[in-house]
Order: sequence, then C-alpha cells, then structure tokens
Amino acid sequence: MLPRLRSGTVHVGGVSLDNHLILAAGILGTTGASLARMLENGAGGVVTKSIGPYPCEGHTGPCVVEVDGGVLNAMGLPNPSRDFADELPLLEGKPVIASIYGGSAEEFSTVAGWFAEKVVAVELNLSCPHAAGYGASLGADPRLVGECTRAVSSLGIPVWVKLTPNVTDIAACGLAAERGGASAIVAINTVKAMRISPELRRPVLGNRFGGLSGKAIFPIAVRCVYDLYEACTVPIIGCGGIATARDVLEMMMAGAAAVEIGTGVKDNPRIFRDIGADLYSADGIPADELVGCAHD
Ligand code: SIN
Repeated sequence: MLPRLRSGTVHVGGVSLDNHLILAAGILGTTGASLARMLENGAGGVVTKSIGPYPCEGHTGPCVVEVDGGVLNAMGLPNPSRDFADELPLLEGKPVIASIYGGSAEEFSTVAGWFAEKVVAVELNLSCPHAAGYGASLGADPRLVGECTRAVSSLGIPVWVKLTPNVTDIAACGLAAERGGASAIVAINTVKAMRISPELRRPVLGNRFGGLSGKAIFPIAVRCVYDLYEACTVPIIGCGGIATARDVLEMMMAGAAAVEIGTGVKDNPRIFRDIGADLYSADGIPADELVGCAHD
C-alpha cells in the first residue's frame, strides 16, 4: 500500500505553501486570473511564466507539438517583461513565485527587483534549452549559476534556482546555486529534443529543436533529484512528468521536499485536487519521513 501524507501548511525554500503541489512555470502562468484559478483548483503555490528584462514575442511557430509521452515546446520565452506586474494585484497575499530570466547576473537582479515586493520568491530560469543567450546557455556553467544566484539572493528574497538536465553533472550546478545563496533548487526543466516531419522533410518546430516535458522525462527527473540530494543540503523541488500521487511519492523518496507540475495540467486542469485526494489523509505521515528515504 502506498503511504499517505499528513496535510497542512508546507514550509519549503523560504516559502509557506498550502500543500506540496506547485504549478510549474510555463503552464497557465501568463495572467493573474489563470494563476488564481490554479490556486482555486488545489495548487499549493504557483510559478508564473518566465519574465525577462525586455518584452519578447518568442520563437516563430510551430512552437508546441504533442509527442508520445509528452510535449515538445520551443515557445522562446514570450513575455511582457515588467508589465507583467499588472497581473499580480489579483494575487496579493497568495503563494506566487515569479519565474525570471536574464542574460547576465545584472539582468537577473534587475528583473528580480521589479517583483521582489510582490511575490513570495523568485525562481531563476537557468534552464530553458532553446533560448540563445538565456536559460541553459548560462545554467550549464556552474560559475554562471553561482553568479546569477548570488546577484539575486543579495536582494534578500527567497531564490529558487531551476536547473537543466542537459548537463553531464547536474550536482555541480546544484552546488553552485547552493553556494550562491539559493533557498531551493528546482529540478528539472525540459530535456532538449526535436522531431522531424517525414512528409515535410523539415523539423516540426519553427525553432528546429525545443524542450521535452511530460511523462517521458519522469525517470530523468527522478535521477537528477537523486543526484542533487546526494550533493546538496538546500531543499529540492522535483519537476518533470509528475502526474499521479505515486509519482509525487517517488520524487520525495529521491529527495524532493515538494514538487512542481506542468504538463500534467494540460491533460487535467483539476490535477492538483485529484493528486491531493490520493496523497493526503488525516492520519498520514509527515513528508519528512519519506524525503530522501531511497538513499538509506
Ligand atoms: C519557453 O517559453 O520557451 C519555455 C521556457 C523554458 O523552457 O524554460
């Protein structure tokens, strides 16, 4: 029989959440109304779409394609930049984490400063696999991970650092984030991937390659969380293909203190309530008893 968890407020990465299940960046995160809807639908916290230093229209389409076991996207970080602040008054006092990106430590610090007073934490997107000069272009280098994290954590707000799996040693990136003052590490962002249309003899995505999310990447995410738990002491937030309470428990046993869910919301907008119903019970055990237990 699967264990059940005790319900109640969850404290992780400098933030208090209503439960362990967080909406991941990039899904229904572009408006205050859609983020509020996810909280009403049972998310314990929500992460916004990634916001950058300049407005961005994103890559030329097609930008999203469904594939076996998941979704391949190359959105190209579309966002309104600083104007996103107009979406936040609706969410005042709620557990909202702003996903931000920049092309340098200075840009990360500038964008974080715009939102620092309006959200409970910022999540540094150092992991988008298909945005030249941003995301994994910086996040694959532990030195730059440390620099960007340090620049934002000096603002005195909780900083979560979302890492890319597209590296040989994710633990080195996790340690760099930890040493830079991260309050939590989020693992993982999408896996760099592509499809080609045999009919058109061309890549399917306008950007040619993109990032794979969904069930297909769950085992990769579990392995990354496991590696990070061995190396780091800050809390880890597991992300990548989670769709059931069983997946949440597996992530916790690998070392995750909480989880983010993204692509699963596409198939079931009520996923937070549905997982919560299977995950929690009045006589459940504290999550601490499970986090990292697969390492013993
Ligand atoms: C995008 O907007 O391009 C996706 C963001 C990401 O992969 O982090």
